[in-house]
Amino acid sequence: MSKLIVLSNRVSLPNPDKPAAGGLAVALQDALTETGGIWLGWNGDIIPDSRDTSADENTSHAAYQPQFGQVVDGKIEYLTCPLTQNQYDQYYCGFANNTLWPAMHERQDLLEYNPAEFETYQQVNALFARQLKAIAQPDDVIWVHDYHFFSVARYCRELGMDNKIGFFLHIPFAPLSIWQCIPTAERLIQDLCHYDLVGLQTDYDQSLCMQACTTLLKAQKIQHSLVSYQQRITTIKCYPIGINPAQIQQVAKKHANDRQDVFDLKALKHQKTIIGVDRIDYSKGILERFDAFAAFLEQYPQYHRRITELQIACPCRMDILAYQRLFRQVNQTVEKINDTFAQHDWLPIDCTNEVVPHETLMGLYRLTDICWISSLRDGMNLVAKEYIAAQDPENPGVLILSKYAGAAEQMQQALIVDPTDTQDMVNALKTAIDMPLEERLSRYQQLMQGLTTFDINDWRNQFLSDLRKNHQLENFKQPIRAVNTAYQLL
Ligand code: G6P
Repeated sequence: MSKLIVLSNRVSLPNPDKPAAGGLAVALQDALTETGGIWLGWNGDIIPDSRDTSADENTSHAAYQPQFGQVVDGKIEYLTCPLTQNQYDQYYCGFANNTLWPAMHERQDLLEYNPAEFETYQQVNALFARQLKAIAQPDDVIWVHDYHFFSVARYCRELGMDNKIGFFLHIPFAPLSIWQCIPTAERLIQDLCHYDLVGLQTDYDQSLCMQACTTLLKAQKIQHSLVSYQQRITTIKCYPIGINPAQIQQVAKKHANDRQDVFDLKALKHQKTIIGVDRIDYSKGILERFDAFAAFLEQYPQYHRRITELQIACPCRMDILAYQRLFRQVNQTVEKINDTFAQHDWLPIDCTNEVVPHETLMGLYRLTDICWISSLRDGMNLVAKEYIAAQDPENPGVLILSKYAGAAEQMQQALIVDPTDTQDMVNALKTAIDMPLEERLSRYQQLMQGLTTFDINDWRNQFLSDLRKNHQLENFKQPIRAVNTAYQLL
């Protein structure tokens, strides 16, 4: 049987001393174990540049190849390599996180473009393609993850690889108007069309991706999810990532009283508690949420000492200016709100920057009354799904969910809010606090039903089964002509 090869920028190495890996890592490990497989990516280390590692302007995609370290765990082989300082600066901090990330999250104001960074991004994509070529048998299936690797399939094809190669974008897809701000947009969308299958989180992202292909490349849409470009057919389809609700329910129950040192929940027994869990990222709308919480405390002084917002805010990408700035702003805003409203026995916002182990987090979810997600744009947001799954089925909490999170497409029974509208969020918070048990139960049951209907294993199986299907251009000769004729008639 053909094996599966996964490529992602970050690789979850098995580590018995570390907290259990999250749902996505486990789902991919399960798939890799089933057929035997390899997981390829960056090991998180940065090594100094030396003559042979630095990019040579005259020899683009210079054939520098790093040493890949190998760890074997059961039927999975992990192959990881360091990035050089230049690759880290230009590929990871640069094009991936200073161009593509803000673009995909519709932050044109933060989008920077630097041709040298694009070039290094291409070199890193080419480097991983060469490694894929070195390890893949012709019938192996390759699954590439996320925006770090838009161009890997193009290099694989250039190296003569005919393997099935799929790509899943975990973050949103940018609208055309934003793609048009990236000088190399056309090239990137062409690269995407070298994949056999491109998976997106939502129907909306699917339609934006299709639009980018048909408008920027004049690629031909054959069916709802098929596009033809330069003799190649690419499927562009939505696969909303899920979780494992039964397992989370179990873990949450078991760990509900685990560690009270993250937040002192016993002391908050008589208060309403709100939980917020975010990487400190401008896409998460953390400041908008704090502002709305402050507005709520202004408008409803009767809730002073009766409600606390618990915030886990994890710093990330701290070598990038926008993230350093936001980190400072988040901590300053917490301080300001606490200075304004705190009383001797009450702190309105209790914020930690600690990374909390997954099982402890599930326990915390179960004990809190409200989960508040205010993303300004978000691929899916698994906090929304995990919070619901972790609830006590007899006494569930309430989810306030931004309409701009991918999860909102499937979780309409949450309290859906517009995070840019402070009063809308204040009202939702009041509704959540006042919501009677009967309504909480009804919303929770419907949400759980959705989570169970398409879980993380369905997501993985559906993607891989579609990827293994064969779409030959010849099979579509007829429909293509039909589409053309219809178009001419218009
Ligand atoms: C998002 C991306 C992932 C990324 C994660 C953490 O969820 O979709 O690809 O790994 O953020 O970001 P980092 O830059 O620390 O890997």
